[in-house]
Amino acid sequence: MANITVIGAQWGDEGKGKVVDWLAEKADVVARFQGGHNAGHTLVIGNQVYKLHLLPSGIVRKGKLSIIGNGVVIDPWALLEEIGTLRGQGVEVSPENLLVSENAPLILPLHGAIDRALEEARGASKIGTTGRGIGPAYEDKVGRRALRVCDLAHPETLRQKLDNALMYHNALLKGLGAAPLDADELVASLTEIAPKITPYAGSCWQALDRARNDNKKVLFEGAQGIMLDVDHGTYPFVTSSNTVAANAATGTGTSKAGTVLGITKAYTTRVGSGPFPTELTDDIGETLGQRGHEFGTTTGRKRRCGWFDAVQVRQAVKTGGLDHLVLTKLDVMDTLGEVKICIAYEARGKKYDYLPASSDLQAEVKPVYETLPGWQKSIQGVRAFEDLPENAVKYIRRLEELTGATCAAISTSPEREDTILVKSLF
Ligand code: GDP
Ligand code: IMO
Ligand code: MG
Repeated sequence: MANITVIGAQWGDEGKGKVVDWLAEKADVVARFQGGHNAGHTLVIGNQVYKLHLLPSGIVRKGKLSIIGNGVVIDPWALLEEIGTLRGQGVEVSPENLLVSENAPLILPLHGAIDRALEEARGASKIGTTGRGIGPAYEDKVGRRALRVCDLAHPETLRQKLDNALMYHNALLKGLGAAPLDADELVASLTEIAPKITPYAGSCWQALDRARNDNKKVLFEGAQGIMLDVDHGTYPFVTSSNTVAANAATGTGTSKAGTVLGITKAYTTRVGSGPFPTELTDDIGETLGQRGHEFGTTTGRKRRCGWFDAVQVRQAVKTGGLDHLVLTKLDVMDTLGEVKICIAYEARGKKYDYLPASSDLQAEVKPVYETLPGWQKSIQGVRAFEDLPENAVKYIRRLEELTGATCAAISTSPEREDTILVKSLF
């Protein structure tokens, strides 16, 4: 089977974009299947830097079909803005190389407003969402009141569909003492944007079926990470979609997700609130943040940094359906004298070899560490496994042992080609 699915094995920002762009050289189709413009994927190709949110990371390569699948929630204004930015950077984006699933739900301005208002109301217990309306849009999808991409092709029935959604939202707003939403205004802006989106709209499942019949290679690109999965993550500090590989099938209308790669940072980061057992609030955490430029691509927020958590990644290997890891940002650890790996948790006098489901326990667990010597040599840009220092290899081998998954590739800088292929893929 030629397909590959790429997902994040931690709390997002593992370097999925870089890996998808690198793998896309050999792919014919690149498809996003969940999330929305909460994602932020940075690609570095020579002296060009591309920041993608909704568009699949294959878009920068010529001759590839990029698909935004039905499992993605689409803000049409954000999509057009991103297309405009990329065109400004010389990237060709047209209905020839971009297909937007006609049955994908839309994010409307009201979703962003609700997302931000709820966060404010949560105060200290806020989730730390990206404020992009992701959660409220997914709620409308499962509440069966979402507007979808295909609805933009029928302006005459937009009003009726919107009224259906607003019946729910305005009742809530009334209860909160807030002003109701104006359907006329929303219909006008949707009618205005519709002709700019509909040329890209089409059937995702049919495109993928054709690709399969033609023996094309499909790369499924996940957003966020397994620990942000709404079922398997650190609930409620999660995103509102399934980020595991199984959703590549549901989120596009195929059943051929192929080999699953879990993109895994050589240490751990998290942006937003929620449990993070190996978080470092000391100088080492600062060093990782500075050397790794750990600031969010979407919100610019500082990412929290910590040691590699082998308990968490081992769990992600199982729940996410990972066949292999792709280890990224190993170069960020170059200066450290010693490196630690979390091998178990302790809480309330009990040892855990997994992350318990209870959010109270998740917040309490303390890491048990194993310490290894650092390599204290620059590996930035290394492209051959045999050029890695012995202690870096020992660290990789120990991570493989502890997580139960082997590394299919290792990334040593943001640059596309600074990647070591360990196991042949595609
Ligand atoms: P994504 O959301 O998983 O696609 O990851 P992001 O793009 O949000 O964050 C990863 C950041 O690390 C980006 O700025 C990448 O350019 C950068 N990056 C990716 N791989 C490496 C690597 O191996 N080494 C270093 N130093 N940076 C990397
Ligand atoms: P990529 O694809 C890291 C986090 C937010 C917040 C939680 C819920 O770049 O890896 P949401 O806006 O989705 O309702 O926020 O999820 N989050 C991410 N963290 N990388 C991402 O995407 C993220 N997308 C959402 O910070 O904690
Ligand atoms: Mg990111």
